[in-house]
Amino acid sequence: MAEIPNFSLVRASSQRDYSAMNRHFSDWLQQDDPDNWTVGIHDFPLYSIIDPNGLFMGVLNGEIVVIICAVNYNSDYSFIGAFWANPKYRGKGMGTHLWNAGLKHCGFRTIGLYAAPGMVARYERDGFRQCGQSGLCEIRTDNILANRRSISENIVDYNNTGHIPFEDVAQFCRKYSPADRRDFLKAWIAQAGCMTLLYVKNHIIKGLGVLRRGCESGRYLLGPLYAGSKDIAVEIMADFVLRISHPSVIYFGVLKDNPDVEQFVKDAKGRFHEEVATVMYRGQNIPHFDVNGVFAVTCGDIGG
Ligand SMILES: CC(C)(COP(=O)(O)OP(=O)(O)OC[C@H]1O[C@@H](n2cnc3c(N)ncnc32)[C@H](O)[C@@H]1OP(=O)(O)O)[C@@H](O)C(=O)NCCC(=O)NCCS
Repeated sequence: MAEIPNFSLVRASSQRDYSAMNRHFSDWLQQDDPDNWTVGIHDFPLYSIIDPNGLFMGVLNGEIVVIICAVNYNSDYSFIGAFWANPKYRGKGMGTHLWNAGLKHCGFRTIGLYAAPGMVARYERDGFRQCGQSGLCEIRTDNILANRRSISENIVDYNNTGHIPFEDVAQFCRKYSPADRRDFLKAWIAQAGCMTLLYVKNHIIKGLGVLRRGCESGRYLLGPLYAGSKDIAVEIMADFVLRISHPSVIYFGVLKDNPDVEQFVKDAKGRFHEEVATVMYRGQNIPHFDVNGVFAVTCGDIGG
């Protein structure tokens, strides 16, 4: 592969690196489309808990110009996401260096990714095949469930209550997750500034939602939202909205072709963005999890 003068591939290895990747990703997303989804304030430092060696940066003349996350969940399964370049530097071959580094890091594991429409054929050339679609939804809090006034008695604010053992939460989430990621989950649900709501009935967890702040002000990101039924998902969403005092936009990603999820988005007066991503896998160990209960994926950059 051709060398690019003054370009180097760097493996992120410190909180400073992870935060710098987060900041650049947020900037580039806004440059591409200011009305689009954004990234959470702490996302990349938290991704590094899954795999501290799986985040790569392409640096040109000392400036980060392209990034990729290729996290190894375990010895069988990896996920590649956040493959993004500064719009000024695209098409010059730098992304390919990172893509190759990401693939090499994943080794012989099965790899999942959500492909942007223009990238599907590119990934097929590297052996990925299409396995479904994912979509982006948004809900404006001033639209949703405006007639709801009270918080449901089944909702528990996990971070401010303290009586639900983390082990119970981890067990509930495992059914809906592509891999056991309990260290990541523990940090994700307690990250600074997030709200984690549980739906608990007869001492049994039946739903969990995490709402975190996006890098752009007035924007929230929902993920994951796991629930045993559509009605529980709607209850959790309604409670989030009641707890946000000012008009905001909530973004979340869903796996498409699930009638319950489509109905949930309708009930919550949300809307789907037109562009869809293609869920793709390479390898045989495709993770099985209860996709019917996934009303919002944790984040498209790490899958599930
Ligand atoms: C995808 C991306 C990170 C690649 O980085 P890059 O530095 O442009 O990469 P390269 O120049 O090495 O090109 C790699 C591939 O990206 C694609 N590509 C190149 N220029 C592109 C552009 N301006 N926009 C979108 N895709 C582009 C091509 O398919 C190319 O593959 P090929 O030449 O082997 O067929 C970058 O183009 C980008 O940020 N695109 C927009 C965001 C995006 O779609 N990310 C992928 C999400 S799955």
